[in-house]
Amino acid sequence: MPSSLTRFMDRRGFLRTSAVAGGGLLLGTSKSAIAQGTSANRTIKCALVGCGSQGERLLAASKDVPGIQWIAVCDIWPYKRSPIARKLPLQNKEQVDGKVNEYETIEEMLDKEKDLEAVFIATPDFLHAPFSRMALEKGKSVYCEKMMSNTIDGARDMVKAGRDNAGIFQIGHQRHSNPRYINLRDNVIKKGSMLGRVTHCYGQWNRGVSASQPLGAPKGQEIPTAMLQKYGYGNMDEFLNWRFFAKYGAGPIADLGAHQIDMFNWMYETTPVSLYASGGVDYYDGTADSDGKIKAKFELPDNVMCLYEYKLPTGTMRAYYQVLTTTGSQGYYEKHMGVNGSAIISESNSYNQVYAEPGQDWSAYAGGENPVILKALDSVKNKFWESDRSWEKPKPPSFGAVSFADVRESKALDQWELGATLKRYPHSPHVQNFIEAVQMKKPEHLTCNVVAAFKSCVTVLKAYESIKSGNKIIFTPEDFTV
Ligand SMILES: NC(=O)c1ccc[n+]([C@@H]2O[C@H](COP(=O)([O-])OP(=O)(O)OC[C@H]3O[C@@H](n4cnc5c(N)ncnc54)[C@H](O)[C@@H]3O)[C@@H](O)[C@H]2O)c1
Repeated sequence: MPSSLTRFMDRRGFLRTSAVAGGGLLLGTSKSAIAQGTSANRTIKCALVGCGSQGERLLAASKDVPGIQWIAVCDIWPYKRSPIARKLPLQNKEQVDGKVNEYETIEEMLDKEKDLEAVFIATPDFLHAPFSRMALEKGKSVYCEKMMSNTIDGARDMVKAGRDNAGIFQIGHQRHSNPRYINLRDNVIKKGSMLGRVTHCYGQWNRGVSASQPLGAPKGQEIPTAMLQKYGYGNMDEFLNWRFFAKYGAGPIADLGAHQIDMFNWMYETTPVSLYASGGVDYYDGTADSDGKIKAKFELPDNVMCLYEYKLPTGTMRAYYQVLTTTGSQGYYEKHMGVNGSAIISESNSYNQVYAEPGQDWSAYAGGENPVILKALDSVKNKFWESDRSWEKPKPPSFGAVSFADVRESKALDQWELGATLKRYPHSPHVQNFIEAVQMKKPEHLTCNVVAAFKSCVTVLKAYESIKSGNKIIFTPEDFTV
């Protein structure tokens, strides 16, 4: 088994390998176990800042991660914070000893929780840089959600804060720790070079129009405007729809595209040389009052299309990305297309296929205890875009002295499934990777440190420069260095 996979197997594999990884026990963790532990698997006292939907997801994902003890939660909105503080001892019962303390501000929490070792930050993006710095300067380790920051300057400051302080600092691009993605990168694309020269990538996150957007506050739960303003928000509309305002977030391209554009960089271990983007506020004008009058106008594009160019050792690779919030068609996935084959993958398990071009024999990759690929089941065969069709082998590309490449028709490709699986929450291996790094005090163990995440942040946020100017952006190495 490739060594990078042994740490992040699915639940069964994880149980089998947890002793090797020094990750401690999984389901057998008990309250008494919280208090014990050697330095490699000792318990890490943790707090969550930002109890919104991603905060809740991280708590759920942490349930099967050994070595976590939740001691505090922090959120300015009691409506989100208090139920979590109450539920946590029941939902994550193996990870709480007694009660979970509640705080309105991170400052107060950092002052009072003297034993706190690691802080998970899941607030709106504009708070990532100041909150990470605050926690790191207090000697804590930090797991901060992506997008690293809503500005490149903010992300730059995070790299500096990471450099200047000893704490472990992970950014929440969880695909970096996902065994399915690791298998695709390490075994299919790199080691086996099964796709041959990859000339194109494609990624999309299509989301349909949703009745819950723009978001409303439940009646009676609004935060008073004076209090919101103390924390930097203009009003409740902006607070709830922070993603669509440049002051607080960076729009759907940062929210959703951040994960997938990051995969272009991560899969090929490089950064793009150019970018052209187009986008606009096509649908969600803003929040409206009962008469339909716009109260808070959205600033950031809800639909964006980007075209990146990469220079790989094998030649130019173009990567196209779209985030659409006006259609849910085909959901979200990334595609890697090479001359010998294509792969399609998503955090959702339903996209998990590899397709061999005619003439490729991949059977050797399908054997052994941990196969790189598996024979596709009939039920999923040709599920997405490869359907059988009548096909004749093209004539050799030559007619007398004149060459001719036949691009009119292709054979349906041979379908396989990617071999690695993940039966835990998609965030669990990444949270585990962070906790292991904290336990061992080894930043090099992290799968997504701030330097790597910074490069993705620049790759994504530069799209706005192109959208505003209408120009192609040419990247320089300085863009990606701090
Ligand atoms: N990794 C992923 O797959 C993933 C998925 C979704 C969101 N995210 C990221 O997680 C973060 C949060 O997103 P979300 O969807 O949970 O947003 P959300 O609006 O649901 O939650 C944000 C929470 O932060 C709280 N908050 C705001 N200001 C605060 C402050 N000053 N101090 C403490 N708490 C404060 C809010 O009250 C709210 O409860 C974002 O950075 C987002 O990009 C990551």
